[in-house]
Amino acid sequence: MIARVPERFSTARLVAGPMSDDDFEGLRLLHRDPVVMRTLSATGEPLGEDETRGFIERCRDHWLQHGFGVWTFRLEFSDTFIGYCGLKRTTIEDEACIELLYAVRASHWGQGYAGEMAAAVVRLGLDKLGADSLVSFTLPVNAASRRVMEKQGFVYEKDIVHAGLPHVFLRRRPIPAEAGGVPPA
Ligand SMILES: CC(C)(COP(=O)(O)OP(=O)(O)OC[C@H]1O[C@@H](n2cnc3c(N)ncnc32)[C@H](O)[C@@H]1OP(=O)(O)O)[C@@H](O)C(=O)NCCC(=O)NCCS
Repeated sequence: MIARVPERFSTARLVAGPMSDDDFEGLRLLHRDPVVMRTLSATGEPLGEDETRGFIERCRDHWLQHGFGVWTFRLEFSDTFIGYCGLKRTTIEDEACIELLYAVRASHWGQGYAGEMAAAVVRLGLDKLGADSLVSFTLPVNAASRRVMEKQGFVYEKDIVHAGLPHVFLRRRPIPAEAGGVPPA
């Protein structure tokens, strides 16, 4: 596999690496938490161990096929599993897109970790991968997730139906260098 983006990198507080079997325990705990899964799984229900193994396998296949994918993030000072964030090829309403996705352990919500992960991953997607745009979508009730997107410069584009449920769909376009490459506040 030729990685098109760094497989490992650090942010201010976090260390990122490509999702692997080593992440099973952290992911198992994330996936079995009903508070997290209410807005994450297609059914709104927690996932079992087989589904978590399947998720890891799909993430690994994506890295192998495309040279980018989902990273796991851990706290630098303690190696604690925080969650994941990444980029995934998908098709929405017949458009081939690169989707930004993320989830954080409920015990660590509200500390800016999703924003920290998303900022790094968006930069890699646009600067290193050279994507024309990135997209992200969430349930209309998921105000925290929409806020994470909007803080990274994603703009509402349309309502869509995804996994049989209404979602808001937002898009992040590269910001011209003359604008300083900084998303609007
Ligand atoms: C969405 C999620 C990733 C956010 O993680 P987080 O680490 O708490 O996010 P951050 O701390 O970086 O930022 C959250 C922002 O949303 C805001 N927010 C939180 N709850 C909110 C609410 N109910 N309404 C409006 N804004 C809200 C926070 O104030 C913060 O904005 P601010 O920085 O301007 O104060 C996390 O809640 C999660 O994992 N949810 C379950 C999985 C999920 O829904 N993933 C996204 C699927 S699209």
